[in-house]
Amino acid sequence: MEQAVNTEHLWMPFTANREFKERPRMLVSASGMYYTSDDGRQILDGTAGLWCVNAGHCHPKITEAIRRQAGEMDFAPLFQMGHPKAFQSASALAAIAPEGLDRVFFCNDGSESVDTALKIALAWHRARGDAQRVRLIGRERAYHGVNFGGIAVGGIAGNRKQFGATLANADHLRHPLDIERNAFSRGLPEYGAALADELEARLLALHDPSTVAALIVEPVQGSTGVILPPKGYLQRLRDICDRHGILLIFDEVITGFGRLGAPFAADYFGVVPDMITCAKGLTNAAVPMGAVMVRRDIHDIFMETAPQGAIELAHGYTYSGHPLAAAAMLATMEVYREEDLFARAAATAPYFEDAAHSLRGLPFVKDIRNLGLVCGIELESLPGKPTARAIDVFLRCFWDEGVLVRTTGDIIALSPPLIIEPAQVDRIFDAIASALRAQAAQPSSALYGQREATAPIA
Ligand SMILES: Cc1ncc(COP(=O)(O)O)c(C=O)c1O
Repeated sequence: MEQAVNTEHLWMPFTANREFKERPRMLVSASGMYYTSDDGRQILDGTAGLWCVNAGHCHPKITEAIRRQAGEMDFAPLFQMGHPKAFQSASALAAIAPEGLDRVFFCNDGSESVDTALKIALAWHRARGDAQRVRLIGRERAYHGVNFGGIAVGGIAGNRKQFGATLANADHLRHPLDIERNAFSRGLPEYGAALADELEARLLALHDPSTVAALIVEPVQGSTGVILPPKGYLQRLRDICDRHGILLIFDEVITGFGRLGAPFAADYFGVVPDMITCAKGLTNAAVPMGAVMVRRDIHDIFMETAPQGAIELAHGYTYSGHPLAAAAMLATMEVYREEDLFARAAATAPYFEDAAHSLRGLPFVKDIRNLGLVCGIELESLPGKPTARAIDVFLRCFWDEGVLVRTTGDIIALSPPLIIEPAQVDRIFDAIASALRAQAAQPSSALYGQREATAPIA
């Protein structure tokens, strides 16, 4: 047993701090599919940390690359200077990028990658002499991180309301979740492709296409509970953007690096956007890093239009292309390739789908959605206590079952490392089934207590 930690100074992100500190859930080490908690229990990781440890925890190759780099060169700036691993990292990403998206801008996380992509979109139109294109379109229930650009195009009320006004130039499409028509779909839902037409019929009609710079969408909306694109929907968005000169950005912070069994969701869906934002699995989360993959000709306009010797894009972070992140990223790409992890995820996906849908009919289960190694299990909310049911399942899984799941609203979200074995898939879904049965048989005080529950959302 570890010594008790003083928890009072840390203001925890996206956490109900007071509840957490009453009974902390502390993780002290990790390996492969498991965390170890401070009370010595093995916790099976059903969420790859936060959708990010795709190759499993503490992969020796990645750990060693970081260790070596830390001893060799801790930091070097990328402003008017360079270091080889940053360039090699960009090339390694370009090598697996969808056709044409082979120019790479580095940042430190998903939120920064989103704001970077939005800024590139605005600056690109301006560089082409189309400076009136200032509007950015996102979707309801979208999560694009927490920076001001990201919350403006994002569609989660709870992430905006504490901060007053966000960017004025953002608008939103409806999200495509339609439980009434698509409940318990296996894979992509049948109904709803026509929702994409709202972009043209409502938003472009309202704002005029000549004012719109970019549309940003998560190909699969993860953080708000696994909302899948109906069949044909993403292609329709692509076609409308093409018709009106609007850039299409895929936010692949969750879907990148094998989550759907292909390098990117763009590959899985056969729809190529103009930019892709990514982070998380980029370094297997071992060192923070984000990136924007940009269509080559978009990048080239900046090179062609800025005066010789000028900085072509006034944007960047002290830690863009940080040597430790670059080393981790290069090792991660090797691991993905050598262990063929994207194909492995694709091979496990049907088993995962069957296991997920075996929960149909259990108490409170209202919908099950899955694709690749992602699953959302939506529960009927307890009247007056939204989020309480899912949080109760999360707590029972963690304390009683030794399994880590995630919740958002009253949805349980799963995204295990791509190395997961069938027996571990079974264990995760068995744990959730037990927790649901236990909740039906014996509601806990967390469900009926006085405190308002809050939902983690990232
Ligand atoms: C689609 C998407 N975009 C952006 C982000 C933000 O990433 P970060 O938390 O690394 O800033 C997330 C995080 O979950 C995400 O799911």
